[in-house]
Amino acid sequence: MDLYEHQARELFEEHGILVPRAEVTDSSKEAREIARRLGGRVVVKAQVKTGGRGKAGGVKLAADPAAAELTARQILGMDIKGHTVGKVMLAQPVDIEAEFYVSYVLDRAAGRFLAIASAEGGMEIEEVAATRPQAVARVPVDPDKGVTSAKAAEITEAAGLPPQTVDVLVRLWEVLTREDAVLVEVNPLVRTAQGQILALDGKVTLDDNARFRQTRWGEQESSHDDPLEAAAAAKGLNYVKLDGEVGVIGNGAGLVMSTLDVVAGCGARPANFLDIGGGASAQIMADGLSVILSDPAVKSVFVNVFGGITACDAVADGIVQALDTVQLTKPLVVRLDGNNAVRGRAILDGRAHPLVQQATTMDGAALRAAELANAG
Ligand SMILES: Nc1ncnc2c1ncn2[C@@H]1O[C@H](COP(=O)(O)OP(=O)(O)OP(=O)(O)O)[C@@H](O)[C@H]1O
Ligand SMILES: [Mg+2]
Repeated sequence: MDLYEHQARELFEEHGILVPRAEVTDSSKEAREIARRLGGRVVVKAQVKTGGRGKAGGVKLAADPAAAELTARQILGMDIKGHTVGKVMLAQPVDIEAEFYVSYVLDRAAGRFLAIASAEGGMEIEEVAATRPQAVARVPVDPDKGVTSAKAAEITEAAGLPPQTVDVLVRLWEVLTREDAVLVEVNPLVRTAQGQILALDGKVTLDDNARFRQTRWGEQESSHDDPLEAAAAAKGLNYVKLDGEVGVIGNGAGLVMSTLDVVAGCGARPANFLDIGGGASAQIMADGLSVILSDPAVKSVFVNVFGGITACDAVADGIVQALDTVQLTKPLVVRLDGNNAVRGRAILDGRAHPLVQQATTMDGAALRAAELANAG
């Protein structure tokens, strides 16, 4: 589960990391009061669980309480990458002299943590890593040893951060371990003109396996931070949102994983992972299709099924019935193979839906779906 910026800020403060004074509200009227309490000039920040708020117009400086009210009114209700802004945080503006990046992230493959740090903070770290990889330091952290002052000094030296950040790195490690997080990120961590080190923006992802003892964040927080994932979870679907244009439905996690690869190999990007499992009910197919079709990025849908215990004709029946309940708005490419494939294909042919086409091989179907996505 991701925390909101203001919740991350609260944790940082509790662990002794300096943060700007700030308050949260869902009302623009109250925003004016808060700005007054904070000294007039404030930064108004959209509270959404997605990055790139600044670029989307969700982080703005307001010169006085009246401007803060106006800005809060603009930002509240704004849509940022599919997330509706319900709250804004108003923070005291800080006199920034330098911006840094620091994070700890769980490195599952290596079975340890990774400290990532850069003296070039403020902007997107992915961009820095892509264009100037030498500006991003990556230091493995043994979870049993943790981040001591010596380890923190190693990280700051590798990244070229000022020595005052050593203490922040040690405290940030405490946030990670004490709060059961798998990611803590500060971007930017800044040095002010007065020489103080402050965390201006924070992201914390808690370990869902530890939710039973992290009760303070309550049940009101969905563990699905993406609205489509939340909708899919409500329907009991095994769905993960991705960034592409080809919607993917398959039976079996392994088949779906390789479908994502094959789509990528055909020059398109998968829009999601969706495993409908062994069953072939029309309801699951209809639910899956409706979630995928509600993703505005989707240009085509690829249904990839290998009939095993559940035969292809049963899956084809499920698709045909789903087409009666779901309004198909994008082209659908279906590949049926395995048990009773010929019968399944005949059932789909019989339905003769203008937006549905079939391909007999996985590669052929992926290519067709990719072409349709790239054309549409
Ligand atoms: N309290 C503040 N005082 C002065 N400048 C600030 C303050 N908060 C943010 N900023 C400036 O605005 C920039 C963007 O803010 P922030 O990092 O919080 O948003 P973001 O990076 O756009 O959002 P996200 O991290 O979600 O992508 C910062 O890099 C910093 O330069
Ligand atoms: Mg930021």
